[in-house]
Amino acid sequence: MDHRTFYVTTPIYYVNDKPHIGHAYTTILADVLAGYHRLAGDPTYFLTGTDEHGQKVQRAAEQAGMTAQEQADATVVHFQRLWERLGITHDDFIRTTEGRHKRVVQACLQDLFDRGEIYRAEYDGWYDVTSETFVTEKDLPEGKKPEDLPNIVRIKEANYFFKMSQYQAWLVDYIQTHQDFIQPEFRRNETLGFLRKPLQDLCISRPKSRLAWGIELPFDSQYVCYVWFDALVNYISAIGYRGDEAMFSKWWPAVHLIGKDILTTHTVYWPTMLKALGVPQPRTVFAHGWWLFGDAKMSKSLGNVVNPMDMIDRFGVDAFRYFLMAEMIPGQDASFSEDGFVRRYNADLANDLGNLLNRVTNMTRRFCDGKVPAPPAGLMEHPERLDAAAREVRETVLSAVERLFAHIEAYRIDLGLSELLSAVKRVNKYLEEKQPWTLARQPDQTDLHVCLYVSAEALRILSQCLHPVMPAKMDALRAALGLRGPCTPAELRVFGMFPAGRDVQEPGALFPRVERVVPSSQAEAAVTTEAPKPVTPASPPAAAAAAPVGVATIEFTDFQKVKLKTARIVSAEKVAGADKLLKLQIEIGGETRQIVAGIAQHYQPEELPGRLIVVVANMKPAKIRGVESNGMLLAASAGGKLRLVSADPEIGSGADVK
Ligand code: ME8
Ligand code: MG
Repeated sequence: MDHRTFYVTTPIYYVNDKPHIGHAYTTILADVLAGYHRLAGDPTYFLTGTDEHGQKVQRAAEQAGMTAQEQADATVVHFQRLWERLGITHDDFIRTTEGRHKRVVQACLQDLFDRGEIYRAEYDGWYDVTSETFVTEKDLPEGKKPEDLPNIVRIKEANYFFKMSQYQAWLVDYIQTHQDFIQPEFRRNETLGFLRKPLQDLCISRPKSRLAWGIELPFDSQYVCYVWFDALVNYISAIGYRGDEAMFSKWWPAVHLIGKDILTTHTVYWPTMLKALGVPQPRTVFAHGWWLFGDAKMSKSLGNVVNPMDMIDRFGVDAFRYFLMAEMIPGQDASFSEDGFVRRYNADLANDLGNLLNRVTNMTRRFCDGKVPAPPAGLMEHPERLDAAAREVRETVLSAVERLFAHIEAYRIDLGLSELLSAVKRVNKYLEEKQPWTLARQPDQTDLHVCLYVSAEALRILSQCLHPVMPAKMDALRAALGLRGPCTPAELRVFGMFPAGRDVQEPGALFPRVERVVPSSQAEAAVTTEAPKPVTPASPPAAAAAAPVGVATIEFTDFQKVKLKTARIVSAEKVAGADKLLKLQIEIGGETRQIVAGIAQHYQPEELPGRLIVVVANMKPAKIRGVESNGMLLAASAGGKLRLVSADPEIGSGADVK
């Protein structure tokens, strides 16, 4: 990323209703992009706000028995509170009812009127009361007449029009010669498609007799400005257009993030307005897709609107931010489900990231007096001297950083996050390969120190890269490692800057596992709550592991009843008051479960995470010493020795064992 300024905006949201997950998404996306640009060292400015004029707000006010201004004042608070709760780091919040905005809108209108870009004319035609637009019969759904549609009315009135049509050829050319202007590319084609029809002039006034809630036209007090002509101007009024030229020229042009619903206003109306005003075009208009609920659009009338506040209350702010960013391919629609949320949360955050932190801090405390050990002098400056595994960790982490920033430039935050999470997995795998708990028994502790240092250093860089998405959690993670404050852009790209000797802290449960409430699809039912037919094994669990082969013969169909699966151990801890038992969290193909196993005298808890074992997946749930156990692991025992049955890591967890 080069250090150019980054000015990012969200749509300004209507104050007719409280925010929902869609509003939260665009705002979090803008926040995250702003965060990455700040991290890269780019001067960054982030604007959001509310759209308070027009018919939508007027109607909501009438229904609520308030004035429009009261409606706006009451509703804007919900947006501001939500942004605060979500940790949004906007530099400014603009309301279109503010004087600083109205003044600029009026100055623009007057200027355009004076230069003949706006003219007065008699209009006699069809008007869509829902979208507040004038329509021709061509705009109506196939085979429908205006008379058939309740939202289409005939109106005859004098109005003011912006000469938008004269810019059509210019706009088509501009879009074709500026690849980055409208993104993703298929949206660009959508706008070009729209521009194949002749472009009309845009009616920018509403007679006060019909709608008084708006900014008065400076040249005719009988009219207010059409809400879109007012709203779009927020992007320049907020940064000092016609007021503070230094500020304006510092930040403009903007990157506008919008939903696909408002593509035309942002890629046709707005560019032609700017052209007429003599203002350069936005750098980019990026239109993302819809959050759907299942396959359906979220809508109040369907009652399927996801309330962000509820999600935050249940799962935490950062988990919510992470899910929205990781799950949606910006540009395409994404489907929201609680099940998907829990699955991703458990897999990425509880298992991979949370677990890595726990392992690093636990082992540092156990083996190194709680201080991240220093590697041998000069080693980190000469990565070629690292062993192959450590070198690979280093390269994976550094290339994840590079790719992350490339993905951010392309608005693919989802891909950026999956790079980071793959790197986290790689570090977990490194710990499994190196087995620090074994290294700790060697007289020479160098290998142990390198291993823990490399892991902590990887976490330093990866946590900083995840910080724009999960600011509070990454601050906590970094505090647990003894890190203070953010790192500089240069420190992101150097592996070996971890300040060794710092005390690590008990991290607590950064991402406590969430139990799935409802089983998801039938496809997964076998490993979730719906146990097909509980099978009681012929021999009790403890004996089953030790039973010599071939004692009794069974039918193949008996064996078939036992569902054996590969599982990855996520974490292990002792069961209080039971010196033989360990409580394990295991993951079976994305599903997490708890099992209790009688292996405490043979394994230390910290040597277990990451191992791929074999479990009986369809055991009837049982309580062992009051602790819930949902499955049984297989172990081999001989002469008082007991070792876990393990699977080739290549197969991964969730595989059938036959
Ligand atoms: O259109 N999925 O405001 P608005 C994803 N005031 N994003 C969604 C969404 C969903 N289901 N629902 C809404 C307006 N959004 C105008 C904008 S700008 C000068 C004026 C997001 O309150 C998305 O960003 O209807 C969409 O474009 C915006 O909310 C519309 O918010
Ligand atoms: Mg809308």
